[in-house]
Amino acid sequence: MTNNKLRLGVNIDHVATVRNARGSAYPDPIRAAKLAEAAGADGITAHLREDRRHISDADIDGLMAALGIPLNFEMAATAEMQAIALRHRPHAVCIVPEKREERTTEGGLEVARDENRLAHFIAPLRDAGCRVSIFIAADQAQIDAANRIGAQVIELHTGAYCDLHAEGDFTGRDREAQRLTEMAAYAHDLGLEVHAGHGLTYETVSPIAAIAQVRELNIGHFIIGEAIFRGLTPAIEEMRRLMDEARP
Ligand code: PXP
Repeated sequence: MTNNKLRLGVNIDHVATVRNARGSAYPDPIRAAKLAEAAGADGITAHLREDRRHISDADIDGLMAALGIPLNFEMAATAEMQAIALRHRPHAVCIVPEKREERTTEGGLEVARDENRLAHFIAPLRDAGCRVSIFIAADQAQIDAANRIGAQVIELHTGAYCDLHAEGDFTGRDREAQRLTEMAAYAHDLGLEVHAGHGLTYETVSPIAAIAQVRELNIGHFIIGEAIFRGLTPAIEEMRRLMDEARP
């Protein structure tokens, strides 16, 4: 691999969660994004959910105007979100499954089950110049389907791996890390760019950062939580350090 640098995308959704808890104007996710940029983030990720529980439409306007680094716009595969993405033309669009009742994005997208619709859904986004990423489980059938519909990128869901670590099931965790490693190589061989994310912490990031084919990690909830204790810039710098240290 010629460029082995692992990019860090900082997800700022939960700055907006704190803001929205009180309906105030602060803390401002745009300010957090600019700080993240200054701290060495390679991109900013924001998920505009259908129910607008954290990021708002105005936040997306603000991010597009303020950022000097790429925006990875996370969205469900709905006509409303497609129209918003086409209006803004962010660097990347990451298609995620979305259920109103979930606390966070629980599983990967079922691409194989919805292939035809998704192929038509992402085509205009690609034509508009966005890099289209599909958030999926580390599963060969889903990777094949993501490849067939014309996605340029897949993001592997690391939530199960992180949950097993949190439960103390280290055998299960290591098996899941192995599966992520194998599926990253499989997707890379198909010509897909491989990203990963969800639930990553200082404790869990290194084995994922060590996967040579993974080019970008998207990390939010832990970093924003850690920022309460050490500040956003040191919280990001520590994640960056661990990622660089783990790189093969
Ligand atoms: N990647 C995707 C596709 C996501 O949906 C999320 C959560 O919004 C993340 C990464 C970041 O997950 P976390 O906030 O748990 O770090």
